[in-house]
Amino acid sequence: MGLNHDLAGEYQAIVMYIQCSAKLTGPYRRELRALFQAEIADEQGHAQFLADKIASLGGEPTTEPRPVPPADQPREMLGHALVAEKQAIANYTERLRQADAFGDIGLKVNLESQIADETRHKEELERVLAGWDER
Ligand SMILES: [Fe+2]
Ligand SMILES: [Fe+2]
Repeated sequence: MGLNHDLAGEYQAIVMYIQCSAKLTGPYRRELRALFQAEIADEQGHAQFLADKIASLGGEPTTEPRPVPPADQPREMLGHALVAEKQAIANYTERLRQADAFGDIGLKVNLESQIADETRHKEELERVLAGWDER
């Protein structure tokens, strides 16, 4: 299974959202910071779940995040975040099929919950980006 690949993606999201929270500038800094901060808590929960599951399966949970793409402008940060959330949904959807084939219903249910979280993140980012140029 690609659970370590997914874990590296969760670490990337945590690092990216912490860095974006710090670097954000402009009139929407406070709102966007709150958005990123709320997602960090979710991603941390996902990372812990994945690390626990990898260890339970006898594997070694990775400590390496995927590389975080550089961004200076809020619009760019939101774009990178959207790509990462879409990637997470795609990864967990594939992992869910594997868990089903493997017969691990508990993992399947947890992955469904993580897909629901990432879908909410994705839709929220899409709503922000959809109105970005309408001022
Ligand atoms: Fe996540
Ligand atoms: Fe997310």
